Amino acid sequence: MSLGADRSYKMKLRDVENAFKYRRIPYPKRSVELIALLAISCTFFLFMHTNKLNSRLKEMEVKLQPSEFSALGLTSNHVSGHDAGKHDDINTLHGTYQYLKSTGQLASLSSERLNNTRHARLEVVFFNRGAKVGSEALMQLTETMAPLNNMTVVTKGPIDINARIRAPRERMLQAVWVADLEPGTIYIEHCNWLDFHRYQLPKPIYINMVRDPVERMISWFYYIRSGYRNAIIHNRFPNTTLKSEKWFKKSYNQCVRSGDPECQYVPESIKDAVGDYKRQSLFYCGNNRKCLPFDSPHAIQLAKRNVERDYAVVGSWEDTNITLAVLEAYIPRFFRGARQVFELHSNSIRNRNRNNRKPRVDPDVREMVRRNFTNEYEFYYFCKQRLYKQYLALQLEDNLR
Ligand SMILES: *[C@@H]1O[C@H](CO)[C@@H](O)[C@H](O)[C@H]1NC(C)=O
Ligand SMILES: *[C@@H]1O[C@H](CO)[C@@H](O)[C@H](O)[C@H]1NC(C)=O
Ligand SMILES: *[C@@H]1O[C@H](CO)[C@@H](O)[C@H](O)[C@H]1NC(C)=O
Ligand SMILES: *[C@@H]1O[C@H](CO)[C@@H](O)[C@H](O)[C@H]1NC(C)=O
Ligand SMILES: *[C@@H]1O[C@H](CO)[C@@H](O)[C@H](O)[C@H]1NC(C)=O
Repeated sequence: MSLGADRSYKMKLRDVENAFKYRRIPYPKRSVELIALLAISCTFFLFMHTNKLNSRLKEMEVKLQPSEFSALGLTSNHVSGHDAGKHDDINTLHGTYQYLKSTGQLASLSSERLNNTRHARLEVVFFNRGAKVGSEALMQLTETMAPLNNMTVVTKGPIDINARIRAPRERMLQAVWVADLEPGTIYIEHCNWLDFHRYQLPKPIYINMVRDPVERMISWFYYIRSGYRNAIIHNRFPNTTLKSEKWFKKSYNQCVRSGDPECQYVPESIKDAVGDYKRQSLFYCGNNRKCLPFDSPHAIQLAKRNVERDYAVVGSWEDTNITLAVLEAYIPRFFRGARQVFELHSNSIRNRNRNNRKPRVDPDVREMVRRNFTNEYEFYYFCKQRLYKQYLALQLEDNLR
């Protein structure tokens, strides 16, 4: 950043800090008492009246399990991933199409309503890339496209700390920094969803990628054992002692089956034996402590809400063509021509940060792991269904109709 830009950034930071302090001025004591009194009487009144309703609702809940944020308006009970492979599996483009058609929702799909780019107030893409979802490949694609679409790719933010969640001051610093980027910038870094609204800052265009949760864990397991990754770490921290040969030779099958802490994924756990980015949803949930319990339904709901409201596109390399088509259509300023560029350069894009050592993982081991990622799957499928809806709303494929 230039000196002038740096000064304006600092001034903005101060403004935001002041606004923040201002909003936190406590109420005078008297009004607090009054509010408390009002609240108590209202609560009591409501309590009497809602008690009966509540038990009725509880009965209904058992049947309905409402999941207000499910991309298809369905619940996880119906959207089962265990049918994978079946022709009409709802978690495929075709299955989503069939479902929408059979429920009469296909006709009312609107690309406008599914277009969060319209709500962005900054001509800046914020790609808070998840770990082990192939984000470097998308980074490579944007770098290749940058001169074509007149955009600048920035891969380093103002905070140099790699924590699972960031402290309030770090978040604010980062948000102010993003809001100050030049129009036409695409900012790519591993970090969590940021709440620009909270700091009264304009919203950027959020994007990200997802991947099958169990595949991510297997990928991480072998990635940290790869020569490439260890060479990088050794270069950066020459003093770290190398891991043992036994560690390098550990297989994922053996790790899961033996209950090795490295391959234990315990629902609702907050502490990790090793850092392994098992919470894909954390990138979308944000920096709230409530986002930390692993595979917790609450964290997943928060993540879904942010995707629904803020993310322009959450794509996946599992659906390359669909993802690129959706990026092109919903964020043309940055992704015009993405499919063409990808076709021309697909080898260099696909090979970026690719680990070719992928030993076989047994189906029962996959199943054991999968059972502990139930809610993470719910989130992942939610994102995939939303992507399919965005794609179908474009009406590109007549043959589906
Ligand atoms: C490139 O983008 C910047 C920022 O939006 C704009 O000021 C500039 O005019 C653009 N250049 C071209 C050639 O479109
Ligand atoms: C790393 O090793 C070098 C040389 O062996 C030594 O001078 C340095 O103090 C070490 N740094 C740390 C942080 O241990
Ligand atoms: C799954 O979670 C349970 C606790 O709910 C735990 O006992 C088990 O070891 C976990 N399995 C794996 C593979 O993480
Ligand atoms: C993706 O698009 C390319 C280029 O248009 C095409 O050759 C390929 O068959 C498509 N793949 C799928 C899975 O549709
Ligand atoms: C989405 O909104 C952006 C920004 O307004 C616009 O450029 C783009 O064409 C829209 N795409 C669709 C599919 O509506």
